[in-house]
Amino acid sequence: MKFLRLFLLLFVISTQAQQGGMWVPSLLKGMNEAEMKSLGMKISASDIYDANKPGIKDAVPHFNGGCTAEMISPKGLLLTNHHCGYSQIQSHSSVENDYLEQGFWAMSLEEELPNPGVDVTFVIKIEDVTTQVLAGTENLTTEAEKQKKIENNISILSRDFPKEKWQGAKIKNFFDGNQYLLFVTETFDDVRLVGAPPTSIGKFGSDTDNWVWPRHTGDFSLFRVYADKNNRPAKYSKDNIPYTPKHFLPIAIDGFKKDDFTMVVGYPGRTQEYLPAVAIEQILNDLNPAKIEVRDAALKVVDGFMRKDQAIKIQYASKYASIANYYKKWIGESKGLKKSNAVAVKKAEEKEFLQKVKKAKKQAEYGNILSDFDKTYAEIAPYALSRDYFTEVFLRNIGLTETAFKVYQLERILADKGEQSFNDRKQNLMDGMGAFYKNFNKTVDEKVFEQLIAIYSTQSPKQFVPASLQNINASELSKSVYANTKLGSYEGLKELLTGDSKTVLAKMKNDPAVALVKAAADKYFAEVAPKFEELDLKNIATQRTYMKALLEMNPKARIFPDANSTLRVTYGKVQGYEPADAVYYEPVTYLEGVMEKYVPGDYEFDVPAKLIDLYNMKDYGPYAENGKLPINFIATNHTTGGNSGSPAIDARGNLIGLNFDRVWEGTMSDIYYDPAICRNIMVDIRYVLFIIDKYANAKHLINEMKIVKAKK
Ligand code: ARG
Ligand code: ASP
Repeated sequence: MKFLRLFLLLFVISTQAQQGGMWVPSLLKGMNEAEMKSLGMKISASDIYDANKPGIKDAVPHFNGGCTAEMISPKGLLLTNHHCGYSQIQSHSSVENDYLEQGFWAMSLEEELPNPGVDVTFVIKIEDVTTQVLAGTENLTTEAEKQKKIENNISILSRDFPKEKWQGAKIKNFFDGNQYLLFVTETFDDVRLVGAPPTSIGKFGSDTDNWVWPRHTGDFSLFRVYADKNNRPAKYSKDNIPYTPKHFLPIAIDGFKKDDFTMVVGYPGRTQEYLPAVAIEQILNDLNPAKIEVRDAALKVVDGFMRKDQAIKIQYASKYASIANYYKKWIGESKGLKKSNAVAVKKAEEKEFLQKVKKAKKQAEYGNILSDFDKTYAEIAPYALSRDYFTEVFLRNIGLTETAFKVYQLERILADKGEQSFNDRKQNLMDGMGAFYKNFNKTVDEKVFEQLIAIYSTQSPKQFVPASLQNINASELSKSVYANTKLGSYEGLKELLTGDSKTVLAKMKNDPAVALVKAAADKYFAEVAPKFEELDLKNIATQRTYMKALLEMNPKARIFPDANSTLRVTYGKVQGYEPADAVYYEPVTYLEGVMEKYVPGDYEFDVPAKLIDLYNMKDYGPYAENGKLPINFIATNHTTGGNSGSPAIDARGNLIGLNFDRVWEGTMSDIYYDPAICRNIMVDIRYVLFIIDKYANAKHLINEMKIVKAKK
């Protein structure tokens, strides 16, 4: 009897361990519905996706290409993360009117703020077009020829696919090119800012708490989607009206328990779950350490300035957060890969794979996959490392070199595409760079440059560093570059770009920033990029064969396609975890925890006075549970970057939370998902409503929503 119980327990644990995966909504029926129901889901797969009737998919748009959002009212009200709306909130802010600091609440439609350039895209329909995309590739022998044919097929198919004229179509590759799906989409360009809590709520804990559980952040912001009079997508216009979505999510505020079913629907960006062990070793030993080193140096400099100067703090807030985010993620990822023995686990799986191949007598087809990987990853190592140094140093962390690189590209455009393209791009730069200079501080940037150019000079593989950047005196070099470049200001940039191509090219030659970037970039494009691309293409082809073999050798396994910024569903349960020996983390945090972390005046852990008052009075309205206000919770949903802003949905299809992060111990889930410690972090929807209602007094927004009691 005892034995049986133990057995059942082990069985339960191992089926729970089956969780993880990011699934295609149109394929849930066959693949996942039964499992989802066994975990407690009460709705059916067709309530999530059905090409012929409205469902959850119609309530979940891609937000500006990088995040996810959900529709929460019949009048186009849209919910996403604070960090997803961050640069919009920032763009409406100034030292006098600082919406990052104070928060922002439109009390009527008229007060909502337009955001040129921001769009949201809904998925209307998903269709398998694998056969059409691969047509005519069977007899092509080289990888390059195959890819060309595929690209050609894709552009014809997406152009000719039947759709309404306001709709788009795009085709994406799944399972490393073993499957192609077409998405019919609708994109709305008039998206206005409706509300945002102050940073001390929306980004509470800032970078110290980022990627960390227990968490206490109200990471949300509100926008509204506008449409033309026919409820169709339209460019911004005063005359547009709030969009009526095909579906919006009802909101359940009567809570949930440990082990309750949850799913997260959204647009995960990129995962690499099927990499061979040798690739993971390269990430662990070479690539992550390099990127971490560069960003660490950049962040130290910027942080020093931000702490001393309020204007710089506003200017660099968004930039700093985005550099810091992946910096910290890579550190966590490396730790998690080591702790979970990902390399050893993969090696064991690879051994098993080879045995299966042998047993199936498929050696001729699949026997060399792993040794091919070994060879190519060894060969690509110095190129991959140089590429990361080049990108991180010149294109991600220093404003001046990013700009100089754009200017440098003009020269290549002229050579490749001629005068007209040159002039177009030049005009684009002149018009478009204003926003960049608004957040550019020459002194800060110079100090970052000084640190990073030294790293590049000494750490990046020597053979690919131009002679002029070897053995440098970083401090002298940065002084002379910043003193003499025209690109330190918007006016200077415009001055440099004025004139015909000959004149501009001559001026570029004399500019020390452009010249410096040109030296590094010429070398990079001549000696690193071509070889990297050649080897990378080889790896992509091998990975495709590997994927095909994995699917073939493991017909019953739960194999999901890597994330590729398309709509996916992940599901699991509300669950805590053990981050370390003898430590257990509960899955829910409360307002008490905000007060425990409170450090008056601190830029990360300050708490607004009004929130403290509400806490002291326990004025929680209908949003508390047993007298306590829930803030954040975690579950076993498998998410990644791009899932930010995704709805957390309960068993009945109601909104219960807003995804925004993952736990520190599980950040390696993009490469290796370990169900014991991988958790996604969500804001409890009751905290969101409490802030809108009690903190901001924006009751009119609550009235737009549909609040339900899920348990009744
Ligand atoms: N780590 C989360 C994600 O990858 C949140 C990032 C924003 N917050 C921050 N403190 N930088 O996007
Ligand atoms: N914070 C991430 C995002 O912005 C989500 C994650 O990586 O878990 O999409």
